[in-house]
Amino acid sequence: LTKARAMQRALADLPDYSGGPAACRRCDIWRHATQAVLGEGSNSAAIMLVGEQPGDEEDLRGRPFVGPAGRVLDAALRDAGLERKELYITNAVKHFKWQPRGKRRLHKRPEAAEIAACNHWLEAEVSQVKPRIIVALGASALRAIGGLTDSIDSARQLQISHASGAHIVCTYHPSAILRADAANADTLRTHLVDDLRRARELAA
Ligand code: URA
Repeated sequence: LTKARAMQRALADLPDYSGGPAACRRCDIWRHATQAVLGEGSNSAAIMLVGEQPGDEEDLRGRPFVGPAGRVLDAALRDAGLERKELYITNAVKHFKWQPRGKRRLHKRPEAAEIAACNHWLEAEVSQVKPRIIVALGASALRAIGGLTDSIDSARQLQISHASGAHIVCTYHPSAILRADAANADTLRTHLVDDLRRARELAA
């Protein structure tokens, strides 16, 4: 930091973001995470997908949606006629929040304050990519990108947009499909594919 910028920051009491999400200490999730997982994909994507936070595998590999939820997402994208490489895929929260359960690291939902703390990075991605459509996968993404606390069931019916003007398509998180019983999983998967297809049509 130059002296002038450091002074400006001190005066404005702004956090130091110069190290990027990897160096972010605005909340405590980083303490138990391996690394920050940044968004990836096309920097000029018309469609941005937003998940909740990296899971166990994502935390280890440093890429979004490469674990079990990522495999559900990949299949749904295929069925919706979308290619991963033409999209930009990121998360509301960039570090993996978990609690120990035996030898496993169990996903722990980020709190509203943690989502708010991480919003700086998500908004930076939106400003950079300028997507026309933002797909919120699940409640945490909806809170982060739309500021809403509605259930996904009801938010799917709403017409909402982001401050940038991007249209927000709200749908189920792929993990909800993994957690659901067989009958519900099929319904949720159908909805997820329908919503992704709608995003594709809106972007066309
Ligand atoms: N779940 C998410 O929300 N994001 C990931 O990157 C992986 C699992």
